[in-house]
Amino acid sequence: MPIAKKDLIHLSDLSVDEIWQVLSKAREMKQVLAGPDKKYPILRGKSVINLFYENSTRTRSSFEFAGKYLGADVVNINTSSSSVMKGESLKDTALTLDRLNPDIIVMRHGASGAHEILAKHVKARVINAGDGAHQHPTQALLDLLTIVEHKGSLEGLNIAIVGDILHSRVARSDVWGFQALGAKVTLCAPPTLMPSRAAQLGAKVTYNMDEAVKDADVIVMLRIQLERQKAGMFPSIREYAAFYGLNAQRLKLAKPDCLVMHPGPINRGVEITAEVADGMQAVIEEQVHNGLAVRMALLSMMGGAAE
Ligand code: CP
Repeated sequence: MPIAKKDLIHLSDLSVDEIWQVLSKAREMKQVLAGPDKKYPILRGKSVINLFYENSTRTRSSFEFAGKYLGADVVNINTSSSSVMKGESLKDTALTLDRLNPDIIVMRHGASGAHEILAKHVKARVINAGDGAHQHPTQALLDLLTIVEHKGSLEGLNIAIVGDILHSRVARSDVWGFQALGAKVTLCAPPTLMPSRAAQLGAKVTYNMDEAVKDADVIVMLRIQLERQKAGMFPSIREYAAFYGLNAQRLKLAKPDCLVMHPGPINRGVEITAEVADGMQAVIEEQVHNGLAVRMALLSMMGGAAE
């Protein structure tokens, strides 16, 4: 089951059929992970470079584990201790890495669109591990897997995505994936944290959180990305939590079996209370585990040449 396009930069680089194949393969990988030996060395002889220009815990460690469990040689490049710190451009870094002949390069970068530059200069297949406020396709895939495992499918589900939509690559990938698999999506944020073209994503847009979560089957809470925003986009953290935070009382507006999701890292007490984050409806830790399975699936399917 190879993936047709060379690179995975936008979630829409996968067809809906390919998304289902990734989810199915990820479920196989979960069985491997549950066994006594997590090694499934189908990528022996292949090499993966993880190139992270931004901080990461979940994505980076799961890509590293995924590559190693599959038997690939994995090299992690921390840009803070690489020649990037001496001023090397992305193009020159790409040309340099290309000479090392990796099969796959996984990159996280702060600039939206950086992956197109990388992909143009390397023979390796490129996987986007997050670029600016643009896309985070593997997060969307693990979110899809988590929802499918609980709900069977996304067809007709009401999904609310709440928080800092403006700066969220997760929201942009999730909206595309959720709608492609048949869900109805509502985006909710303060007006200052909602992109001006949000309606063009095809989702319903509201600034009222109670309206967004009412009768929801799934709520995806997003972190306020203080590192990407200017000061003054909302009056205070306390006010943000009151109007746009998910607490136990607000969760009662959703369906009783509503799933609570969050890509992490969480700001407890800001966008979500500790009570909800640790509550029975939260599947945040499952999302992390599914991230490993999805990335194993993807690496295994992209380990060969593109069709
Ligand atoms: N969800 C996510 O991308 O988390 P990390 O930044 O820790 O990788």
